[in-house]
Amino acid sequence: MRILNVGSLNIDYVYDVDHFVQPGETMASKGMFINCGGKGLNQSIAMAKAGNHVCHMAKLGRDGLMLKEKLEENGVDTAMIELVDTPSGHAIIQVDQNGQNCILLYGGTNRALTKEGIVAALDAFGTEGLVLLQNETNLVGFVIEEAAKRGLQVALNAAPMEPGVLDYPLDQLTWLMVNEVEGRQIAGCEKDEDILPILSEKYPHCNILLTLGSRGACCKRGNTIYQIGCHKTKVVDTTAAGDTFCGYFLYGMLNGISIPDTLRMATTASALCIGKQGASDSVPTKTEVEEAFVKGIFPVLPVTESTIDGK
Ligand code: RIB
Repeated sequence: MRILNVGSLNIDYVYDVDHFVQPGETMASKGMFINCGGKGLNQSIAMAKAGNHVCHMAKLGRDGLMLKEKLEENGVDTAMIELVDTPSGHAIIQVDQNGQNCILLYGGTNRALTKEGIVAALDAFGTEGLVLLQNETNLVGFVIEEAAKRGLQVALNAAPMEPGVLDYPLDQLTWLMVNEVEGRQIAGCEKDEDILPILSEKYPHCNILLTLGSRGACCKRGNTIYQIGCHKTKVVDTTAAGDTFCGYFLYGMLNGISIPDTLRMATTASALCIGKQGASDSVPTKTEVEEAFVKGIFPVLPVTESTIDGK
């Protein structure tokens, strides 16, 4: 199935640190890398590496040409990327000794989308396929409405979370993809186990993917909840692990793969991603994911099924 990703593009400035810098502290980093990133770019590349046809729509400053080239190297269609004369989005990322990160974003051209531009892109895309969004661009709610109005499937990765997400027409989504922090904030609850029941009641027609970090992931489609654990692996850098999961998960859902097998594939792809430094460059190819199964690098994880009312 064709995918239009109305997604962010960031130049990632990555700093290798002992610990995240504290208020009032000045600290030397141990190393610095410049990577191609942005949740939008990472997810386009994950879906393309998995095997989907992806068209990426964005605005990009001329300082960010390497991001367009990176998408093209990975087979993503960039015909809908408009080059402009203002600065691109960027992210300042600290990665600590345990591979955990903290990220500061500058929106730049990611937040310069216009309604006219979005309507033109959707008109050109047509009425068949899926529109994917993350929450690093402006006009997310408008894109959801316009895409749903045209009969397109719509998937939103509500990251990063901010209060404005609650005003989006989330009931019009085909897939809402969140981690536990985003899920608790959208559901308005404190416990992770309450997220899916509450979101199902609030948005009964929306399917939900909930990632839980080292505790695995759950997915709700219709009345059924599927749950998978996580592979034990060495963590080098968790950047783009969530994006890899979302990209491979949607690939499975759009290509008729069962939910248990899709969850296994996405879990394995994201375990391979955290074993490498970087954002889009650490997203594995489908062949690498398949080899990890064939060579037994990771076990085939069990997937449990239950219904939303706990039966
Ligand atoms: O999800 C990881 C991404 O978040 C990074 O590549 C960074 O650009 C931020 O958008």
